[in-house]
Amino acid sequence: MNNIRIAIDGPSGAGKSTLAQAAAAALGYIYVDTGAIYRTIGLHIWKSGVDPADTEAVIAELPGLRIELHYEDGQQRMLLNGQDVTEEIRLPEVSQYTSAVSAIPAVRTFLLEMQRELARTQSVIMDGRDIGTVVLPDAEVKIFLTASTQARAERRMLELARRGTPQDYENVLKEIEERDWRDTHRDAAPLQQAADAILLDTTALDFQESLDVLLKIVQERGRT
Ligand code: DC
Repeated sequence: MNNIRIAIDGPSGAGKSTLAQAAAAALGYIYVDTGAIYRTIGLHIWKSGVDPADTEAVIAELPGLRIELHYEDGQQRMLLNGQDVTEEIRLPEVSQYTSAVSAIPAVRTFLLEMQRELARTQSVIMDGRDIGTVVLPDAEVKIFLTASTQARAERRMLELARRGTPQDYENVLKEIEERDWRDTHRDAAPLQQAADAILLDTTALDFQESLDVLLKIVQERGRT
């Protein structure tokens, strides 16, 4: 049987990773969180004190980076130059740095082949911003997952509190609006819905309802 590739794109806080992870478990596919891959570069730039707006300086760091991804109990873990950075890449500072460095075309090219390779030999659910448009333009199923800015801010707040780094609503909302703007206005692979992607708006749906709709779309589109 041929591999099935499911591309899920959408803005931050739309619930992509939790939903994609649950759907992957239900379908027996590998889940690839590409945001985590970009975050390893954001983390490195933050730690090394390089200005993320200095494109040349960011590009000069790339050859020294060895980014690896592996799975432990079905959970994706990120290694940066041999060190496990899975938890560290979730820090709020890293989110902002990542959004900035991911706008640099050379950073995107640096990660492109790694992402494609992951989908070559196995069925995957891959989430990000440009999976259906750039990374896997021939994916069997494409979903554009979104929710209102307010709903996404509320969900992000809960997630940050769960991770032990709580922030107030206004801060989280502002951060989401800034990232949305940057992710959709950059020249290189901006966040946009692929022409053949199905729009799934989860503003009024809880987790189980969203998962049910997602799996139904996969069943109809993916011929699984
Ligand atoms: O999904 P996330 O919040 O972990 O992503 C972190 C940042 O990485 C986000 O601001 C946009 C960027 N990103 C990207 O440009 N392309 C992807 N495929 C995934 C993430």
